Amino acid sequence: MLRLAVFVSGRGSNLRSIHKAIRERRLSAEIVSVISNRDDAPALAFAAAEGIPVLSLERVPIDEHARAVLEFIGANGADFIALAGYMKLIPAEVVAAFRHRMVNIHPALLPDFGGKGMYGHRVHEAVIASGATVSGATVHLVDEEYDRGPIVMQRTVTVEDGDTPETLAARVLQVEHAIYPEALQLFAERRVDIIDNTIIIRS
Ligand code: GAR
Repeated sequence: MLRLAVFVSGRGSNLRSIHKAIRERRLSAEIVSVISNRDDAPALAFAAAEGIPVLSLERVPIDEHARAVLEFIGANGADFIALAGYMKLIPAEVVAAFRHRMVNIHPALLPDFGGKGMYGHRVHEAVIASGATVSGATVHLVDEEYDRGPIVMQRTVTVEDGDTPETLAARVLQVEHAIYPEALQLFAERRVDIIDNTIIIRS
């Protein structure tokens, strides 16, 4: 059973898919805290309405983010972090404290179409502009760089002729909602080994 802190910045559909998977017992976890960099993130409002302790960092000075986050998630007993549409770099102190216990979901097949500035529709615009015929979603461990850590799970979707960033985003999002709870469940079942920065999933 994971005690999850979920980091969000916006809409929160991945947060809701994780929440639903827990309710439906597909994921052995509890969401013990939700952290946002924005006061007005709909994801934060959803969490608060569900009675989950929430923290907004919007008014916290940047050099106090690491301390504020570690204090808050420590107080709520989180042992694992899931980034779900969080658009800021995680402070190095938090990465160090949760090394191998923090994952992110990205709306493309990393290592392609990732890195700083590659988020939301920009990702899908770049995929379409590249002429790629396949895209997808990636769950990966978080390290000190955007979108770089070892890959836990990927699933593909077809890029159709005539796709717009919106239609491709919608197809990828369905896959995100499926694989994020599945990937988290692998950690809940302690089936993920990390050896030399390579992930091995035990069957
Ligand atoms: C998701 O598509 C997620 O993969 C993406 O932001 C969206 C958040 O949607 N994350 C990134 O682009 C990170 N680089 P949500 O708030 O509805 O979960």
